[in-house]
Amino acid sequence: MNRNIGVLISGRGSNLQAIIDAIRDGRLDARIAVVISNRADAHGLERAREAGIETVVRDHKAWPSREAYEAVLVGDLRARDVGLVCLAGFMRLLGATFVGAFPNRILNIHPALLPSFPGLHAQRQAVDHGVKISGVTVHLVDTNLDAGPIVMQAAVPVLDDDTEDTLADRILVEEHRIYPEAIQRILAGGWSVQGRRLVFGGQ
Ligand code: GRF
Repeated sequence: MNRNIGVLISGRGSNLQAIIDAIRDGRLDARIAVVISNRADAHGLERAREAGIETVVRDHKAWPSREAYEAVLVGDLRARDVGLVCLAGFMRLLGATFVGAFPNRILNIHPALLPSFPGLHAQRQAVDHGVKISGVTVHLVDTNLDAGPIVMQAAVPVLDDDTEDTLADRILVEEHRIYPEAIQRILAGGWSVQGRRLVFGGQ
């Protein structure tokens, strides 16, 4: 598979940093061709620049429709021959224009064990619900929110004295561990999507 990846961010960029570090350490055989942010003040942009990676800012508010905005992002990624798109805290919903341009070639990381707690504030949802285990999910992106085929998950205990923030910190450690690994597994190929299931090694 084409090992040029594009990373889309909106903020802190700690998962972007985990991907950069994994490539640097040789745990992930990939090249980040571009980092795109919808926010000019995203801290992740600084992380990318420090690593010598090209950055692009595309403020969604500058385009009249979701479709027009997505078409620009697709153009940015295609121009850099990106084969796999990694969403890393990108806070925009993606529709058919974007998803259709990269079928089964977009990954997202979500801080809960999907299908539990999709959407915003997943860690707060988990604490409020009172689950004893939550975690992290890396999945392929389709046009439904946090719903595509699951690539990898890791479980994290929820403690009685957890707040949204302490649980988020514990989940983040696992995010940084499994996102590069999931990307590596997807780039290695040999997987297929069977119904809802992503199956490694099976045809
Ligand atoms: C992470 O918790 C990720 O799971 C969620 O958004 C957050 C992004 O954090 N999708 P960062 O920008 O990677 O530090």
